[in-house]
Amino acid sequence: MFSVRASFAAGAAFACAAAVFVIAPAPLRAQAPAVEETPDSIPDFPGREETFYLCVACHSFRVVGRQGMSRERWNQTLDFMTEKHSMAKLEGDDRKQVLDYLEKAYPQEAPRAPGGWVNPFAPK
Ligand code: HEC
Repeated sequence: MFSVRASFAAGAAFACAAAVFVIAPAPLRAQAPAVEETPDSIPDFPGREETFYLCVACHSFRVVGRQGMSRERWNQTLDFMTEKHSMAKLEGDDRKQVLDYLEKAYPQEAPRAPGGWVNPFAPK
């Protein structure tokens, strides 16, 4: 009698574990972005690839693209990434290239919109 109960308990435990295993992947999949981000998904200006890969090392480019800022504010944002989020310090030509890109692609006057502003003059 005891052994029947024990094996029932073991079976129930196994069923629970199996249920968790089967259910768990669904929410994980739901979190994945619907469209994979690539440099092609952001406006095409010089420095696009460099800026894209630098920033997506830590977060989605949507975090960047929903902002529209002056060059000065972008400059401060780079310092902020370094000071607060330990981004490698960006200097010299590398910094200039990234700022040139951000200023052109996501300028101050850009309205904030989910998914980011798309420059109408960006080559398609
Ligand atoms: C070393 C990691 C790291 C790198 C590299 C990085 N960031 Fe960030 N950034 C973060 C973290 C962490 C946050 C805050 C959490 C979040 O919003 O995902 C953040 C948030 C932001 C925000 C939102 C700030 C706010 O107040 O809403 C902007 C804008 C931003 N990053 C711009 C950039 C740009 C532009 C680059 C590339 C030049 C970049 N980040 C590269 C770590 C990084």
